[in-house]
Amino acid sequence: MIPSLPTRAFLLSLLTGLLAVCASSALAQAPAAKPEPGLLLTHTSGPATDTAVAPNLWLHVAAGQSAAPALPAGKFTATWTGALNADLRGDFQFRTEVLRGSLKLEINGTNIIEVTAATTADSAKPSAPSKPVRLSKGANLLKATFTSPDSGDAFVRVQWSEKGILWEPITTALLTHNPADAALAKSTAIRAGRDLFLEHRCAKCHTPAGSPALAATGAPELAMDAPDLADIGSRRHYAWLAAWILDPKSQRAVAHMPRTLHGANAPADANAIAAFLATLTGGPAPALPPKADAEALDSGNKLLEVLHCAGCHNLPDATEKDAKKISLTHLNAKFPPPHLAAFIKNPGAHYAWTHMPKFPLTDEEAHQIAAALSSTAPMFKQPGPSTDPAVIARGQHLVQTTGCLNCHTLKLDNQFKAKPLADFAATRWQSGCLAEKPAADSAAPAFAFNAEERAALQAFAATDRGSLTRHAPSEFAARQAKNLQCASCHGQLEGFPLIDVLGGKLKPEWIASLLKGEVADKMRPWIEHRMPAFPARAALLAAGLAQTHGFPPVTPAEPPVKMPLTTIGKKLVSSDGGFSCIACHGVAEMAPVQVFEAPGINLAFSGARLQHTWFLRWIRNPLRVEPTTKMPVYFDEEGKSPLADILGGDADQQLDALWQYLRLGSKMPPPIPPQ
Ligand code: HEC
Ligand code: HEC
Ligand code: HEC
Ligand code: HEC
Ligand code: HEC
Repeated sequence: MIPSLPTRAFLLSLLTGLLAVCASSALAQAPAAKPEPGLLLTHTSGPATDTAVAPNLWLHVAAGQSAAPALPAGKFTATWTGALNADLRGDFQFRTEVLRGSLKLEINGTNIIEVTAATTADSAKPSAPSKPVRLSKGANLLKATFTSPDSGDAFVRVQWSEKGILWEPITTALLTHNPADAALAKSTAIRAGRDLFLEHRCAKCHTPAGSPALAATGAPELAMDAPDLADIGSRRHYAWLAAWILDPKSQRAVAHMPRTLHGANAPADANAIAAFLATLTGGPAPALPPKADAEALDSGNKLLEVLHCAGCHNLPDATEKDAKKISLTHLNAKFPPPHLAAFIKNPGAHYAWTHMPKFPLTDEEAHQIAAALSSTAPMFKQPGPSTDPAVIARGQHLVQTTGCLNCHTLKLDNQFKAKPLADFAATRWQSGCLAEKPAADSAAPAFAFNAEERAALQAFAATDRGSLTRHAPSEFAARQAKNLQCASCHGQLEGFPLIDVLGGKLKPEWIASLLKGEVADKMRPWIEHRMPAFPARAALLAAGLAQTHGFPPVTPAEPPVKMPLTTIGKKLVSSDGGFSCIACHGVAEMAPVQVFEAPGINLAFSGARLQHTWFLRWIRNPLRVEPTTKMPVYFDEEGKSPLADILGGDADQQLDALWQYLRLGSKMPPPIPPQ
C-alpha cells in the first residue's frame, strides 16, 4: 500500500529526523581514530610530497640523497605533526642536539625553538635550550618544521630535558599521530605498490628508462637476483620443480615468482621445463650427512627452537599453521638430503638476495637441523623426469621464450622480451600482469595479486615512477626490516633489544659487520639465540637505520685516544676505588668477576659498537634508556659522580676518561680486580 501524501511526508520527516539523530550520535561517538605510535612526517620539494610515520624528531639526508623516494634530491622541507603525550604535568626544555638546516618547533601552537645552523661547528653543537615549556597532562599538539640547507648534508636530532641536566631524545613512546590521515593513506599505498613492484621484479621485464645503470643508483632492489639455475638438477628434485614452475603460489603462498604458463598445455610445459632443468647437473657435491642418530636429532630439534626458526616458518610437525609463514612440510620433496643442510648453512649460495637469513652454524649443526626437519616432514616417492630428448629440447625452448631468463641466470640465450615500463599508462594497470584472471593466451605472467595489492600497484603506476631512480636510506631500512621480518625475533625473544632503538645505539659500521655475518664473537654469550646475517642488504640497511635516528651513514673519525685519560678510565672501571663495572662486564681477556649479578657485554667492544652520545646517556642513567635494565645508576639526579676524588668528581671528565679507556678495545689493559 502506498501511504497518502501527508502520511508519506510525516514518515519522511520522521525518517530524516531519525537519520539526523543517528548521524549526530554517530558523530558524537565516532572517536578520532585511535592514535598510533610515531609522528606523521611529510617531506615536500616543489610539487613532490610524501607522508610517512617516523619514530621521532630525527632525520639525516646525506648530500645528493633524496629525503624520500617520492622526492628528487635537493632542497626539501620536512614537517612532523602529532601529539606529545605527557603522563604528568611538567616543565620541559627543548634544543637541537645536532642540526644542519633550520628547525622550528611548535607545541600547542606556541613557538618553542626556531634555530638555523649552517657551519660545521654550529651543526655539531647543541642549540641554546628553549625556555621551560609547561606540558599539559595528556596530548600536547606538536609540530616541527625542518628546512634543509641549500646544499650538503641535512640533519637534525631534537632533545628535551626536565631539569636542564640530563638531555635526551623525547621519549619515543610518548609521540603519537592520527593514523586516519588522507595524505598518509595515499603515500602508504604508493610506497606499498613500489615495494610490490620491486619485490616481484617487474623491472626485469618492463625496464624503466635509464636501466641498467639504475640498479647502482636507484632503488637498490632493482639489482636483486633470483636463484641461479646452474646445476639446479643436482640441488632440487624434479617433481618439486615441475609443481613449482606450474604454479609457485600453490607451493608457497608468499612466492614472488609469477606463474608464467597458462592454458591447457601448462602442466605438460611445466614437466618439460622441469625435465630440462633436471639435466642441469654438476657443481661441487656437498658433504654427506653423518648418521642421523637420536642424539643428532635431539640437537637438531634444540637448534630449531633456539634459533627461532618457527618465527618465520611453519615447521613440518607444527600443529598450528600460520598462513603468513612459509611452510617447511615439503622439504623432502624439494631437497636431495645433503642439499638441505647446504641450504640451511648458506641460503645465499645461489641466490644472494634471498630473504632467508644466514645463521652462524657449523657443518655439523646444519646437518643436525636438516635431519630433524627431514625426520618430521612426509616422505615422497619421487617420479623421475622424462628422458625423451624432444621433451627436454622443448623444455629448454620454453625456458628461453617464457621469461625465466629475465629473472634467472643460466648460460643460454634469452629470447623473451616485454614492453618497457614507459609504454604502460596507469590506465593499463588492470590487464596483463595485473589481470584478475589471466587470459589463457596471454604472454604476461600471473602474479595472483589480491585486490589490495592491485590497488597499491595502481597507485604507484599513477605516479611518474621517478621514485625507482632514487634511494632513500631511511625508507629502505623500514621496508627491509619489514620484508626480512626482523621483528620475528626482536621483540619476541627475551634478553635483547627491540629493533627500533638499534639505529641510535650502534654505529652503522658495527651494524653492517653484524648483518654481513662478520662479527664472530657473541655479544651476549649468556643467551642461546643467535643473530643471523643478511649479507646482501647489510651495508645499506645499516646506513638506513643510522639515518632514521639522525646519524650519518658513516661515523666521522674521532680524534686520537687521549692516552693519559685511559689510566683514569681503567681506575673508574676497577673494583679498587672505582665503580666496579667489572662485577658484570668482562674487559677484553678478563672475565666479569660477579657474572651472576646481571651479565653485561664485554667492554672491549664498546668503542667499536656504540654511538658516543648513546654511551654518555647510558652511563649517566641506564634506567632512562632501558627501564628494565639491571645495570646500576651511578650518577645522581644532579648528574654528580659519587667518586669525588677522581678528576675532581667532574662527571663529564669521568665519562670522557671511561670512553677513552673503552676505545682501546682489545688493547684495554686489565682493570684492577677486587682485593
Ligand atoms: C616475465 C616478464 C614479466 C614480468 C616479470 C612482469 N611482466 Fe608485465 N607483462 C609481461 C608481458 C609479456 C605482458 C604482455 C604485454 C607485452 O607483450 O609486453 C605484460 C603486460 C603487463 C601489463 C599490461 C599492459 C597492457 O597494455 O595491457 C601491465 C600493466 C604489466 N605487465 C605490469 C607488470 C607489473 C606491475 C609487474 C610486476 C608485478 C609485471 N608486469 C611483471 C611480462 C612481464
Ligand atoms: C626472519 C625469518 C626467517 C627465519 C628466522 C628463518 N627463516 Fe628460513 N626462510 C625464510 C624465508 C623468507 C625463506 C624463503 C627464502 C626465499 O626464497 O627468499 C626461507 C626459506 C627456508 C627454507 C627453504 C624453503 C624452500 O621451500 O625452499 C628452509 C629449509 C628454511 N628456510 C629453514 C630455516 C631454518 C632451519 C631456520 C632456523 C634455523 C629458518 N629457516 C629461520 C625466513 C626465515
Ligand atoms: C619475475 C621474476 C621471475 C621469473 C619470470 C621466473 N622466476 Fe623463478 N624465481 C624467482 C624468484 C624471486 C624465486 C625465489 C622464490 C620466490 O621468492 O618466489 C624463484 C624461484 C625459482 C626456482 C626455485 C629455486 C630454488 O632453489 O628454490 C626455480 C626452479 C625457478 N624459479 C625456475 C623458473 C623458471 C623455469 C621460470 C620460467 C618458467 C621462472 N623461474 C621464472 C623469480 C622469477
Ligand atoms: C632469528 C632471530 C633474529 C632475527 C630474524 C633478527 N635478529 Fe637481530 N639479533 C638476534 C639476536 C639473538 C641478537 C643478540 C645477539 C648477541 O647479542 O649475541 C640480535 C642482535 C641484533 C643487533 C645488535 C644489538 C646489540 O645491542 O648488540 C642488531 C643491530 C640486529 N640484531 C639487527 C637485526 C636486523 C636489522 C634484523 C632484520 C634484518 C634482525 N636483527 C633480525 C636475533 C635475530
Ligand atoms: C650489575 C651489573 C652491571 C654493572 C655493575 C655495570 N653494568 Fe654496564 N651493563 C649491564 C647490563 C645488564 C647491560 C645491558 C646488556 C645488554 O644490552 O644486554 C650493560 C650495558 C653496558 C654498556 C653497553 C654495552 C654494549 O656494548 O651494548 C656499557 C658501555 C656499560 N654497560 C658500561 C658500564 C660501566 C662503564 C659500568 C661501571 C661504571 C657498568 N657498565 C657497570 C650491567 C652492569
